[in-house]
Amino acid sequence: MYTDLVMDHFNNPRNVGTMEDADAIGREGNPVCGDMMELFLKIEDGHITDVKFRTFGCGAAIATSSIATEMVKGKTIEESLLLSREDIAEALGGLPANKMHCSNLATDALRSAVRSYYEAHPEEKPESLDLSTLVPTHDDDEDEEAAG
Ligand code: FES
Repeated sequence: MYTDLVMDHFNNPRNVGTMEDADAIGREGNPVCGDMMELFLKIEDGHITDVKFRTFGCGAAIATSSIATEMVKGKTIEESLLLSREDIAEALGGLPANKMHCSNLATDALRSAVRSYYEAHPEEKPESLDLSTLVPTHDDDEDEEAAG
């Protein structure tokens, strides 16, 4: 049911930890199950140069958090915001349908971190970016919960 890559990231999560000098911190909870993620970003010249995370959650939450940190490291902030939970699941070789909501934690924590970063550094915020759009997306969680 889980791919080898999911098991690998669950057993050996990358970029685990906290960051004393983080430029941005995002914290989000998953309303479906109550699991939590904290994401720490180091940002230089608009690029995410370092990432750390702590996830208090299921195996899929840990695996998706882990691979998401690898996927955003080195990207510009704007590029990182394009990361979807489908991208994360695809990068892991797929997730069971009733575990897709677990990958919301990483994208939501990232949005939360970016929102707090631009609130602290409004001069760096692209004009086209509306911070009110950087909110958790749980559109279809209820369906998944019902499914499984
Ligand atoms: Fe809570 Fe996966 S994130 S069950």
